[in-house]
Amino acid sequence: MLVLITGAGGQVGRELVEVFADHEVVAVDHHALDVGDRDAVLGLVTTVRPDAIINSAAWTAVDANESDPDRAWAVNALAVRHLADGARQVGARICQLSTDYVFDGTHPDPYVEWDEPHPASMYGRSKLGGELELGPEQTIVRTSWVCGLHGANMVKTILRLAGEHDTLSFVDDQRGHPTFADDLASVIRRLVVERRPGLFHVTNQGAVSWYEFAREVLAAAGLEPDRVHPIATADLDPPRPAPRPANSVLDNAALRLGGLPLAPDFREPLGRLVPRLLDT
Ligand SMILES: NC(=O)c1ccc[n+]([C@@H]2O[C@H](COP(=O)([O-])OP(=O)(O)OC[C@H]3O[C@@H](n4cnc5c(N)ncnc54)[C@H](OP(=O)(O)O)[C@@H]3O)[C@@H](O)[C@H]2O)c1
Repeated sequence: MLVLITGAGGQVGRELVEVFADHEVVAVDHHALDVGDRDAVLGLVTTVRPDAIINSAAWTAVDANESDPDRAWAVNALAVRHLADGARQVGARICQLSTDYVFDGTHPDPYVEWDEPHPASMYGRSKLGGELELGPEQTIVRTSWVCGLHGANMVKTILRLAGEHDTLSFVDDQRGHPTFADDLASVIRRLVVERRPGLFHVTNQGAVSWYEFAREVLAAAGLEPDRVHPIATADLDPPRPAPRPANSVLDNAALRLGGLPLAPDFREPLGRLVPRLLDT
């Protein structure tokens, strides 16, 4: 399979490049391709003529999205239109990465793929806009709380803060499924290679609050988890510009009910990652 991976310099993009190593891959980072540039997108897609395009490019700075809606719409939504246009011209399939932020988090139970999206933030609205650019023959993978070896993420932040402070405070009223980029990339690979269309929630398993997750990170690093204290989102000072969903838990129902393997409990990849991060 010839696979075009956009956003290849990001934390998921880098893992995607690795997991497709036994296929033919054209990987383009932000510098090589601005997905918001229609001419550049169509030029590249019609030159490469891939079998599949995996779009992991996005403007993921959730708070910054609030103050620059035009950039959010251009990168997270309109860019998907350009990619879909190119894909149509060469007969390629698309796999689009999306987010738990398409939900406002007020639902009491885990969200399934068929729940009505209702984003509360600009980032969530623009990512939903990207989803809406694609037809049912394409693949959309929503994920949450992504961590991994590459790029900035919460595991690295928690370990850094643990090195700088005796006690740490994390919110205990936002729950989600932490997801490790390498496990996510493996499931995406399967969906792309098997040409499975439709919307999939793909996360590691094990729902926790950020407070509980920070405790798990410290435990995995051999540190005392009781150094982490729970706080409420309302206690954050200053408050963050973009609202976060209180319930971000994505039920991987389409995988589960379709008989496809789920990514493991997050404690498994966390146990692999923390020693690697501590070694570097
Ligand atoms: N991180 C999470 O917790 C999370 C959760 C749910 C869903 N997702 C989704 O998962 C996907 C991958 O996210 P990630 O965690 O890998 O984020 P990331 O590390 O921020 O990677 C996104 C990449 O997109 C690039 N990019 C930004 N604007 C671009 C543009 N106009 N053209 C081309 N590339 C551009 C960025 O490059 P620069 O940095 O150089 O601008 C970055 O390398 C995204 O669709 C995101 O919405 C992420």
